Amino acid sequence: MLQSSSQQNIFLIGLMGSGKSTIGRQLARAGKLDFFDSDAEIVERTGAEIAWIFDIEGESGFRKREKIVIDDLTQRSGIVLATGGGSVLDSDSRRVLTSRGIVVYISASLERLFKRTSKDKSRPLLNRDDPYAVLQALQKERDPLYREIADMVIETDDCTVAQAVKQIRSQIQASQTD
Ligand code: S3P
Repeated sequence: MLQSSSQQNIFLIGLMGSGKSTIGRQLARAGKLDFFDSDAEIVERTGAEIAWIFDIEGESGFRKREKIVIDDLTQRSGIVLATGGGSVLDSDSRRVLTSRGIVVYISASLERLFKRTSKDKSRPLLNRDDPYAVLQALQKERDPLYREIADMVIETDDCTVAQAVKQIRSQIQASQTD
């Protein structure tokens, strides 16, 4: 939903490795907005790493925490929020994301996602024998959910972070002058 620019929130959704946090940080800086990352917020609140939460509480425990954090953070105004890749699985989270800000789907090819995530061992869902196959399955499951709630889709394979930021800002501006 589009709001007046002083109240505007921008929520970035997309798979692990799509670049939500990197793009989000620069997008926030460019728009003088506050930046939040739902994973970082969970780590700060619990004092535990994401992998540790998955180990102790399972994925369902992590999802409960994620849902609370998404609900809390989306109630703020004037923020850019990079959401964890699985936050759209929850229908209440999908609803608050669409109703409290502009939702931007940061999309990338499986090859790019795989390359960007392959050296980072902090994502429990990808610490498996065949992380490429996992990403493929997640993309199949989630791409329709990302598209369902996205106000715009940004393809990042062939662009720099700065270009992605520029695209998002100009599309938001264009939609507000329509
Ligand atoms: C997850 C994505 C991760 C993190 C957790 C689960 C997912 O966040 O929330 O490891 O289910 O896709 P990023 O998308 O920021 O990597």
